[in-house]
Amino acid sequence: MIDAIGVFDSGVGGLTVVAALRRRLPEESILYLGDTARLPYGSKSPDTVKGYTRRNIEFLTGRGVKAVVIACNTASALALPSLEMHELPTWGVIEPGALKAARVSRGRVGVIATEATVRSDAYPRALRALRPELEIVSRACPLFVPLVEEGWHDDSITEEVARRYLAPLLEAGIDTLVLGCTHYPLLVPVLQRVAGPDVTLVDSAEAVAEMVAAGLADRHLESTHPAVHELCVTDSGETFQRIARQILQDPGVGLEWVEVV
Ligand code: DGL
Repeated sequence: MIDAIGVFDSGVGGLTVVAALRRRLPEESILYLGDTARLPYGSKSPDTVKGYTRRNIEFLTGRGVKAVVIACNTASALALPSLEMHELPTWGVIEPGALKAARVSRGRVGVIATEATVRSDAYPRALRALRPELEIVSRACPLFVPLVEEGWHDDSITEEVARRYLAPLLEAGIDTLVLGCTHYPLLVPVLQRVAGPDVTLVDSAEAVAEMVAAGLADRHLESTHPAVHELCVTDSGETFQRIARQILQDPGVGLEWVEVV
C-alpha cells in the first residue's frame, strides 16, 4: 500500500490508535497488522518482543508504507529504543501517553500495563523526565488483555478483576491513571467506574494521532491518494473482526490473513 501509514499491535487493541488516526487524519490510508498468532506480547522477554517487532515492521515496509506506528505499549517500551532497522519515520505510544499524563496530573500517577511494560520501567522513566516530582505507582494487569480479546469489555467479571488490580493504586491516592496498554481504552467504562470520577484516565491514542499528524506534515509526507484501509491478522480472526467493527464503527471492515515470518 503505497502512501499508507503502517500500524501494528499484538492484537485488536491497536485499533484504538487506528480509530484516533482515522478521526485526526481522515485522508490517510492505514495498513494495520494485528499479530494475533503471537499474542500476548506482554508476558514475553525483551528479545522475543524485539524479534516480533522487527518482523512486523519488515512486513509493513514490504507492503510499501511511508511511516510506522507501533500501536503496542509492550513493543514501544521494549523494542523502539533499540530499533535501528529502517529509515522510515516511526512512532511509539509511550512518549505521547507520558506527555499527556504529565500535563494533567496533580502529583500522583498510576500506570497499568502488561508485565513486560511494567518491568521495562518505560512509563515512570518518561514521566520523571517530564516531571521529576511525580509519585508513580505501577501495576501489571495481565488478565485484562484476554478479557478484551474475548469481547468482555463491560462485564461484571471484568469489573471484579479491575477492582483487585486497581485497589493498591487507589489506596496510594492516584489522581491520574495511564492506560499503558492499547487494549485498555476498551475498558474505560469499567475502569472509570472502579477508579471513580476524581481519577483522570489517560489514553494515548489521541496524543499519538497528533504526533503522527505533526510528523507527517514536518516531512511533507501527507497523503496524495484517496484513503484506503486494510486490516491484516496473523491468525484466524472471527473475534478480531467483531471487535474491529465495534472499535472502528465500520461494519464493512474486512480482514486479510497474512504470514509474518
Ligand atoms: N497491546 C499490547 C500493549 O499495548 C498488549 C497485549 C499483549 O500483551 O500483547 O502492550
